[in-house]
Amino acid sequence: MTDQIIFVTRNRHKVEEAAAICAPRGITIVQNDCGYPELQDDDVARVAAYGAEHVVNRLNCAAIVEDTGLYIDALNGFPGPYAAYVYDTIGNAGILALMRDIRESDSDDRRATFRSVVGYCEPGMAPITFEGAVTGRIAYEERGEGGFGYDPIFEIDGVAFALMGDDAKNKVSHRGRSFTKFAEWFLKHGEA
Ligand code: IMP
Repeated sequence: MTDQIIFVTRNRHKVEEAAAICAPRGITIVQNDCGYPELQDDDVARVAAYGAEHVVNRLNCAAIVEDTGLYIDALNGFPGPYAAYVYDTIGNAGILALMRDIRESDSDDRRATFRSVVGYCEPGMAPITFEGAVTGRIAYEERGEGGFGYDPIFEIDGVAFALMGDDAKNKVSHRGRSFTKFAEWFLKHGEA
């Protein structure tokens, strides 16, 4: 039997990554691009929970949303939950410019963490969230053509996400971890 879940997002890259995690577990991701209001909040988990509740009230069936934040240590956690706005305004070049004088040393580093939260909701139920995080580094320059968003400047062990295929990225990424947690829970929930 195949389980289905509606994923409300306009981002096809997120859908492809989520599908690669869910399909081997027998879960089909169905994209819906109806959109939803993004809560302005410091906590991506609250943003995801709010979004999930909103889409379920609109669609009247179970659905998920996913929200990502990027937290750069040397910038005191900027852009955090405002990663989309910052990407759309200053982009990767702007982040690299802000980090120009930050070099790897004992007192300074270019560490950054992605947090992904999947928000699940169904009619008559409070939203549930599933979180995944990965810590890597902001590179000194953009590299790679793959992926999306900050992928060309976010690297793990010296390899930018944009240089990994979806499978390699999913094995270590924030979204790989949040969707793995969601998929395992969803299968058990379906049996209950
Ligand atoms: P949101 O979850 O769509 O609000 O994403 C926030 C911002 O982070 C957007 O600019 C995305 O393009 C970017 N982003 C989300 N996930 C990833 C990722 O896996 N890699 C690189 N950038 C990402």
